[in-house]
Amino acid sequence: MAIHFDPTNLSAAMVGAKHGLTPEEAAAAQPAGLAALAGLHKRADAGEYGFPHLPFQAALIREVKAYAKSVAGAYDTVCVVGIGGSALGAWALDCGLRGPHPVQAAFSTKNPRLVILDNVDPVFIQSALESMKPARTIVVPIAKSGSTAETMSTFLIVHEWLKAKLGAKKAAARIVAVTSEGHGDLKKFATANDLVTFHIPENVGGRFSVLSAVGLVPAALAGLDIAGVCKGAADMTALCWKENFDENIALKSALLHWLIWTRRGKTIQVAFPYANRLWGAAFWFRQLWAESLGKANNRKGKLVHTGQTPIAALGATDQHSQVQLYREGPNDKVYSFWAVGKWAAAGRIPKEKTGLEGFDYLAGQSLRKLIDVERLATAAALTTAERPNCTYTLDKLDAWHLGALLQMFEFQTAFCGELLGIDAFDQPGVELGKVFTFGLMGRAGYEEYAARYKAYETQRAGAKL
Ligand code: PA5
Repeated sequence: MAIHFDPTNLSAAMVGAKHGLTPEEAAAAQPAGLAALAGLHKRADAGEYGFPHLPFQAALIREVKAYAKSVAGAYDTVCVVGIGGSALGAWALDCGLRGPHPVQAAFSTKNPRLVILDNVDPVFIQSALESMKPARTIVVPIAKSGSTAETMSTFLIVHEWLKAKLGAKKAAARIVAVTSEGHGDLKKFATANDLVTFHIPENVGGRFSVLSAVGLVPAALAGLDIAGVCKGAADMTALCWKENFDENIALKSALLHWLIWTRRGKTIQVAFPYANRLWGAAFWFRQLWAESLGKANNRKGKLVHTGQTPIAALGATDQHSQVQLYREGPNDKVYSFWAVGKWAAAGRIPKEKTGLEGFDYLAGQSLRKLIDVERLATAAALTTAERPNCTYTLDKLDAWHLGALLQMFEFQTAFCGELLGIDAFDQPGVELGKVFTFGLMGRAGYEEYAARYKAYETQRAGAKL
């Protein structure tokens, strides 16, 4: 059971000195990597960042499992109402362990489906409500701030939908809230309505919260192995505190990504899983990398406008939509392939020959081999065009490996933040959009933002193109 990191195709020996790194350069940067490790360790020990501690919360895992057991059989749909870091972790876990929705087994009380209401597209929300039954749904509103407009508005709609059919008391019994303990209106609502509530630690931000109640409550309700996920993450955490770069793949990959980004100008990273079940994790990673590392200022307050744009691509599918650009367009990207070692199914191709050359060379082989070959071929094609790329391989895709992968990426992101000298754990850019929305939707106390928006509109009225 392990995750392996192969950085060979990031090397100058493979992609040339203009685009790749030399062993000397990587070795010379190791002290910076060790300083990032020490810096993060100090902040985690001081309680500033909570994500490294999450996989070790045996009591929380027990409580979440006990809650899921207490309501088991009473629902066939788990309806999460949350957005961003309050939604993507649950999707990464569900997609990783049960597959993307269209190919999941038929849902039932024994195999409840997960419906995530994140976007406030009214047609999407209406269709979702029409597809669920109040008496067979558990609703999970999730918001760390307890005030995100998308989540609050959709939750009010879903709450009314439950109440209209079941009455206030039975509706409340079908809701489990996940929010901050000490602040926010979702907490106040949960208390006033006597809702079962799990809390998000103050030192855990949305995109680092998959192993808190934010990800674990929906996952447990959906019947996923949350203890297995946390065990994988806990084992990975132990490796992530090591100073040995060969054992600590989060640190090694953070260092190499930082070098290739800042010294070779690769300002875009393509996260390229070759497994449909890792599609959710790729979107989760996209948020993690973008929101954590895309910052205007460094810790010293200097304007730096840093960030590496993450793209999610799915192999082999996106070979047929993106790889033309990747191989021949601007050489401004680094590619991270995510591979699965041992597949849970072979996808045997029938042996019978058709007499047609386009079919017959495939006869008797397997999709497992084909998808691996496709990935290796794409890596080779990119490498011959001097496009740096690396590969993470999960021995197999199960709860342990998924938990380990997510935790490894959280550490990698945090290490990169340290290397860049920025705060990877705040999101002032997201907050500003939130308060503009509050102002425009008439929330008391946010009039200043409505006024700022008006000034922007006045400017627009005078602008021409
Ligand atoms: O990572 C983050 O902090 C954000 O993406 C938040 O998760 C997102 O904005 C939702 O916030 P909240 O949980 O407060 O509704």
